Amino acid sequence: MQIRDERDEDAAAISRITTAAFADAPHSSGTEARIVEALRQAEALTVSLVATSDDGRIVGHVAFSPVRIDGVAGRWYGLGPVSVTPDLQRQGIGGALIGEGLIRLAALGAHGCVVLGEPAYYRRFCFLDDRTLTYGGKPSPYFQRLVLRGEAPKGDVSYHLAF
Ligand SMILES: CC(C)(COP(=O)(O)OP(=O)(O)OC[C@H]1O[C@@H](n2cnc3c(N)ncnc32)[C@H](O)[C@@H]1OP(=O)(O)O)[C@@H](O)C(=O)NCCC(=O)NCCS
Repeated sequence: MQIRDERDEDAAAISRITTAAFADAPHSSGTEARIVEALRQAEALTVSLVATSDDGRIVGHVAFSPVRIDGVAGRWYGLGPVSVTPDLQRQGIGGALIGEGLIRLAALGAHGCVVLGEPAYYRRFCFLDDRTLTYGGKPSPYFQRLVLRGEAPKGDVSYHLAF
């Protein structure tokens, strides 16, 4: 398995994998593939990585895009959607994509990253829930942040309009 930046020709495969990965996910909105497409169109895919198998097939994808805190754009980003092709889940591909994505964000000078997802999963990347950083005006154990540089921010987070 290899991880690399997405290329123009990957767009259709990324959409397919995103749709397949979320098809049976209980929390899915069914719009995840369209979100990735809209982020790409808006040039808001700050980091977009694919995992490829030995034969070059795309088997996973992760997106990171800018978020605003109390309406202010800074150096904070949102993780997601993240998708692994269903028959290859739970083999470390998602973890490798997220880990590499966070390294890329840090190298770009990001101050931090937020994610909305299962705490049991994201804890392993050192994401924490923090009641002073809210999403939709209220704290949630599912909304978590990872500080990469500086102080932990306070405020309400909004994702890119593509969401
Ligand atoms: C979530 C996802 C990206 C993780 O990728 P993956 O390659 O399957 O996960 P990894 O192999 O890196 O990690 C596996 C570990 O994560 C755990 N895990 C995976 N998804 C989990 C979830 N939703 N909740 C809690 N734990 C989860 C597994 O139990 C496993 O734990 P273990 O290492 O203790 O055995 C992938 O399962 C997926 O595409 N799911 C459907 C789409 C989705 O839900 N995306 C995330 C939206 S927030």
